[in-house]
Amino acid sequence: MIYRRAIRPLLFTQDPEIAHERTLEMLAIASGLPAGLSRPPYTHSRLIIEVAGMTFPNPVGLAAGCDKNGKAIPIWANFGFGFVETGTVTAQPQPGNPKPRVFRFPEQGALVNRLGFNSDGSEVVAKRISKLRRGRKLSTPLGINIGKTKLVSGDDAILDDYRTSFRRLSRLADFVVINVSSPNTPGLRQWQEKDKLGTLLKMLAEDGIALAQKRNVPPVPLFVKISPDMTEGDMAEVVEVVIEAGITGIIATNTTIAREGVVSHVEQTGGLSGKPLKDRAATVIRQLYRMTEGKIPLIGVGGIFTAQDAYERIRAGASLVQVYTGMVYEGPFVARHINTGLIKLMERDGVETLAELVGIGK
Ligand SMILES: Cc1cc2nc3c(=O)[nH]c(=O)nc-3n(C[C@H](O)[C@H](O)[C@H](O)COP(=O)(O)O)c2cc1C
Repeated sequence: MIYRRAIRPLLFTQDPEIAHERTLEMLAIASGLPAGLSRPPYTHSRLIIEVAGMTFPNPVGLAAGCDKNGKAIPIWANFGFGFVETGTVTAQPQPGNPKPRVFRFPEQGALVNRLGFNSDGSEVVAKRISKLRRGRKLSTPLGINIGKTKLVSGDDAILDDYRTSFRRLSRLADFVVINVSSPNTPGLRQWQEKDKLGTLLKMLAEDGIALAQKRNVPPVPLFVKISPDMTEGDMAEVVEVVIEAGITGIIATNTTIAREGVVSHVEQTGGLSGKPLKDRAATVIRQLYRMTEGKIPLIGVGGIFTAQDAYERIRAGASLVQVYTGMVYEGPFVARHINTGLIKLMERDGVETLAELVGIGK
């Protein structure tokens, strides 16, 4: 494989964040080229799936954090992704934590990051996506992930901060993701607790309905993204709040602060992603699927590198999956490989549609 033999060794001589930024700049330029360059998304009758009123050409999405500022949104479909989640976007522009803040652990197929929501801010990102939307129709659904500005404190101000980004971005999104699970913004994960989460989700759900009524369109679907470092009891509370607030679905999981399954030299502070997260993230999906009895859509993310990984996550209860660290190690066509592999696995098992597969192995 060219990526592994030639491109990855070159990229891996550079600092992870510099390699990422340079690659993204190139992709951003490619994204701006005439639409003729963009191919239709990868799809197949076995891979098409309807989730929350949206049609996905295939179930493999780009996870949040890779294209945080929405600079290269149209390009990802060319690599085989069936949807993109941009962000996390914060209301105010902010630089994130001091560098270096992304670390590779190649023997373990892992990354640790403590970026801390480096963001152009929701005003700039809204302008960028608005321009993009005016110029062309996106070929895959777009999720926009919003999070809290670091320097904003106090519950009311934090609620206001989320609402500001929501109002700027929600009309530009096919779905919005509420991020309360990054380990790198102090105090953020407290918003996963029942009362606070309930207040936040209800506020955004009501805002979404009001905005939709004004524009005479259906409310934008809302997903909440959760951490893998929760007990089953915490998860049950999240499910309760999500259902009560009328939130569409859950994305599980973000990076972990645990270091289980990792040899001891992974000592950088931050969120761990990639292979060591796979089993935990799969367990969370399985538990959420059981708790929700399959009634709300789940998006599975964490340690997915292969078609087999994606297949198992869907069988555990995910309607869609996402990849980030797998792309760093396997290259941008990882989405296409996962998709072609999924078709083969479905053929082997006589499964005609993805919808049949969701939660079958719970
Ligand atoms: C460098 C990096 C930056 C990330 N930034 C974000 C982010 O801004 N918002 C978010 O919700 N998740 C972020 N994530 C988490 C991923 O979206 C994903 O949930 C996690 O990495 C697990 O998936 P993976 O093992 O496929 O990487 C980031 C992950 C990495 C590796």
